[in-house]
Amino acid sequence: MIVNIHDKKFETYISDAQIEDAVSRISMQIDQDYAGKRPLFLVVLNGSFLFAADLFRKLHVEAEICFIKLASYQGMKSSGKVTTAIGLDTPVKGRDVILIEDIIDTGKTLFEFIPELKERQPTSLRIASLLLKPDALKYDVKADYIGFSVPNDFLVGYGLDYDGLGRNFGEILKLMP
Ligand code: IMP
Ligand code: MG
Repeated sequence: MIVNIHDKKFETYISDAQIEDAVSRISMQIDQDYAGKRPLFLVVLNGSFLFAADLFRKLHVEAEICFIKLASYQGMKSSGKVTTAIGLDTPVKGRDVILIEDIIDTGKTLFEFIPELKERQPTSLRIASLLLKPDALKYDVKADYIGFSVPNDFLVGYGLDYDGLGRNFGEILKLMP
């Protein structure tokens, strides 16, 4: 499939069926790893909503889900940014938390947020990301569950957007040269 979004053309890169296989694989891994536990999914909006929904409905273990937005702001000190969660209304202390991301690019977003999350003292913390761009990674972030490692191309679809559009495609498309 080739689609126009704003001023650019995108072509199919990962099909619906491939995505479904990857999501099934991750759900089975989580079922095994969290048997007898009750993990809390923390879904990082907006991009992760489709991945989180499909993953969550495939799970068999008891699990809870909570949706958060990450907001960055400049701290009082020049030392840098603080990334904080909006909508984190479920207590994290003592929980087995799984952060759900659509894509890890440079890793900056999670690198800044993870320390704040750890301060809340979860029992355990793992990261599930549908996509990882290993060549773009600049921060020390390790995902425990990954759907696909992808090259450093700009992608849309299945939750990912280009300037607000493209999230509704069931497949993942990449920018055409
Ligand atoms: P990071 O902080 O550099 O890891 O960036 C992560 C965020 O950048 C993701 O949650 C996406 O919102 C966005 N992003 C990175 N790569 C892409 C892409 O190829 N398409 C759409 N959004 C992307
Ligand atoms: Mg995101």
